[in-house]
Amino acid sequence: MQGQNTMSAAPTGSRSAIAASLKSASVRFGSYTAIKDLSIDIAEGAFYTILGPSGCGKSTMLRLVSDLIPAAGGTVSIFGKSTEEARLAREFSFVFQDAALLPWRSALKNVELPLEIGRKRGVKIPKSNRTPLELLELVGLKGREDALPHELSGGMRQRVAIARALVCQPRLLLMDEPFGALDEMTRDHLNLQLLKIWEETGVTILFVTHSIAEAVFLGQKVMMLQAHPGRLREVVDIDLPGPRTIDMRDTPEFTRYSSYLRKLLETC
Ligand SMILES: Nc1ncnc2c1ncn2[C@@H]1O[C@H](COP(=O)(O)OP(=O)(O)OP(=O)(O)O)[C@@H](O)[C@H]1O
Ligand SMILES: [Mg+2]
Repeated sequence: MQGQNTMSAAPTGSRSAIAASLKSASVRFGSYTAIKDLSIDIAEGAFYTILGPSGCGKSTMLRLVSDLIPAAGGTVSIFGKSTEEARLAREFSFVFQDAALLPWRSALKNVELPLEIGRKRGVKIPKSNRTPLELLELVGLKGREDALPHELSGGMRQRVAIARALVCQPRLLLMDEPFGALDEMTRDHLNLQLLKIWEETGVTILFVTHSIAEAVFLGQKVMMLQAHPGRLREVVDIDLPGPRTIDMRDTPEFTRYSSYLRKLLETC
């Protein structure tokens, strides 16, 4: 197994840029330390999945990276910028478990929303090479652009949320259990679509999940967090060949990664 108990998960000797760098980062809520001394470098263009027991700090880590909460200690930088600078420069987007669409706006109007907000605030938005309509097509919603959120299924709403997250052409996509509430078949379908989007856009992805199978299927690397306080337990390289297919989950290699992670999780 290719587990590394390492401070840096960027490939050794790689010249690739670092998308996100956490150095001894800590988060406190009052007297409770939710994250302690978390250090990791996330290579640009990589797909990281994040596993760990409930309450270990997975969401807190994404909120820290996305400038929603401050670090109590250590540093966090995104493409060499502070989290605030990166947020203002629209370097990253967040996709939550709940699509959080505005119910009175169509799918297309929801995707356009970040651009509208940016324009109203006079913010210079990174120019996307895809229009909102093309992004809806990319997530497989061609022809549904005028539908209101209540006219779409849960999986379709989540796809709208992904298209909206891509509209400012972020270089980093933070996803917190985005498919957690979906049935297995829809999740499989969106997993494949997300891999396609990742390959096509080159975006770096940090993806939190409770599903070991989803973590292995999507991730080039799995970050395992440990609880109380939240900290990095191990980064496991997933050396499955690409492009990944659903059938791959029945292979001995896939099963080996899954059972290794299951045992690791039991000790976190
Ligand atoms: N705003 C907050 N105020 C106080 N404590 C918080 C706050 N947000 C999170 N915590 C605590 O920090 C710890 C980590 O929470 P977090 O939501 O990051 O866990 P998680 O790994 O995402 O869990 P889950 O898998 O259940 O989503 C928990 O003990 C939680 O109670
Ligand atoms: Mg969470």
